[in-house]
Amino acid sequence: MKIVIAADHAGFELKNALAEHMRSLGHEVEDLGTDSSQSVDYPDFARAVGERLTSGQAERGVLVCGTGLGMAMTANKMAGVRAASVSDTFSAKMCRAHNDANVLALGSRVVGLGLAKELVEAYLETDFDGERHARRVGLIEAP
Ligand code: RB5
Repeated sequence: MKIVIAADHAGFELKNALAEHMRSLGHEVEDLGTDSSQSVDYPDFARAVGERLTSGQAERGVLVCGTGLGMAMTANKMAGVRAASVSDTFSAKMCRAHNDANVLALGSRVVGLGLAKELVEAYLETDFDGERHARRVGLIEAP
């Protein structure tokens, strides 16, 4: 799968580890930064990932900040982007199965590396259920 990943200063270490993990699983991962603990503004990185999705350059996105919240809030302002901020495996699966989430947002101050890897795997491995959920996802985008 073509995956785009980005983080702010709070999430860059977890982002690096998750990018490596997803590559080890066979995915093509584009890393849009940031790459240091120097303070940056998370909305810039969320938008960059969203643009890769809306342009069709990537199938899924992963965003990491301190909480996962600001990244998800920003990404969800973009038409066609459905970001889910999760910290449990059930939600990581369900955001795919019922909501067709194309972005997973994680909080580096919320989850450790082991759980974050599990969340990413659950998210990437779960297909959208479609049917009645497709109608509901369509309603998310309704004007
Ligand atoms: C940065 O301190 C922090 O606000 C950011 O990483 C994120 O948690 C925002 O939602």
